[in-house]
Amino acid sequence: MNDRRHEPLTEQLADEVFPHDDPFPLYAGLRAAGPLVWNATGGYWVAARHAEVTAVGADATRFCSGRGILTFEIGVEYPTPPTMMHTDPPAHTRYRALVQPAFGRRVVRALEPTIRAAATKLVSQVRTDEPIDIVADLAAILPVQVIGMVLGIPESEWHRVWAWSEASIPGTETWADPDRRNALRAEMTAELANLVASARVTPRDDVISQLVHEDLDGDRLSDDELAMFLNQLLVAGNETTRNAISGGLVAFSEHTDQWPRLVGDRALVDTATDEILRWTTPVIAFMRTATVDANVGGVPVAAGDPILMLYASANRDEDEFGLDADTFRVDRSPNHHVAFGFGPHFCLGAALARIEIAATLDALLDAGVTAIDTAGAVQRSRSTIIAGVTNAPVVLRTR
Ligand code: HEM
Repeated sequence: MNDRRHEPLTEQLADEVFPHDDPFPLYAGLRAAGPLVWNATGGYWVAARHAEVTAVGADATRFCSGRGILTFEIGVEYPTPPTMMHTDPPAHTRYRALVQPAFGRRVVRALEPTIRAAATKLVSQVRTDEPIDIVADLAAILPVQVIGMVLGIPESEWHRVWAWSEASIPGTETWADPDRRNALRAEMTAELANLVASARVTPRDDVISQLVHEDLDGDRLSDDELAMFLNQLLVAGNETTRNAISGGLVAFSEHTDQWPRLVGDRALVDTATDEILRWTTPVIAFMRTATVDANVGGVPVAAGDPILMLYASANRDEDEFGLDADTFRVDRSPNHHVAFGFGPHFCLGAALARIEIAATLDALLDAGVTAIDTAGAVQRSRSTIIAGVTNAPVVLRTR
């Protein structure tokens, strides 16, 4: 029998505005209510604690991705998986083996100086000591440049990358306009197809060329798989990193003792980067579906039951992070956050995202920023998937 005692609490999760304002008291209530709680409206379990999120994420055999990773996909059947995230072993294992080399440590390290140079240039163009919008002026630009570089998209097209990815994220303004959304997505698909075609003829030094020519014992991605993967990559690496950077800088403006700690000790940039990821958790939640009758944290789950892994809640779990789980602290270590997920689908771009965040912090420190002050109300996006900051007025103080 399923334990469905906590329905009223989790019904709030069905409300489209749940990431708005302050969802954390609700998350704390979900964690206190049990290892899993049932959302009657949505028809899915919610794993709000760190222990159950990692247990479900780690086990791709008993908790699959092929039946959807977002709650609006419950009951949807795909003829072919729309993204790599919707695949399960053994297909996912093969897929991952084919794309992993393009994101290996060596490749990412080789990109680091270029990413750092881009962050430095960007910060040098941002006005200090007067209000700016941290999203439009800084956070939105670097991830677009980086994904543009990684994919080999010509610089003249980079301004389109933002619009393309906005058209791919449920809940954004562009998504709400189907005609515009479809037009932008068609444009993105055409651009990626062009890049693939030209990389086949003349290999470049970029991820698309590497994927086109990657060969694993005679196996390689088909054209359809390649198109699906590139579409996903463009979105996955853009919105998420942007919101980590903007949300992280907002966190500094709201916890004014933390930036001076970085100024005083540059060695804290790496732990600060992970704390930003924990604190902002740009991907709020992903879902799995039980493939067999199972037991999660002592709660029986029936085969076919969807389970939402609420990363944003797990990242504030006192049982994992201690009594100060609700405190933004740049020196937090250890920090086993789940902002990049957990298990075989662990974020492919994690190293890249970490470099982008750290490069932004370093560039601001190099520019002599001594404080980050709030300069107006922060506006957040309405997506239930991405914890997005749409507008955040701050002042970067240098004097
Ligand atoms: C702060 C930035 C980022 C966050 C918070 C983030 C978050 C996540 C999460 C939570 C997952 C797990 C999906 C699941 O378990 O179903 C994931 C997977 C993935 N991410 Fe990221 N991501 C970020 C940046 C990036 C970047 C920069 C790229 C690429 C350039 C990227 C590419 C991917 C891909 C391809 C997957 C699918 C992996 C698989 O299914 O095996 N992400 N990401």
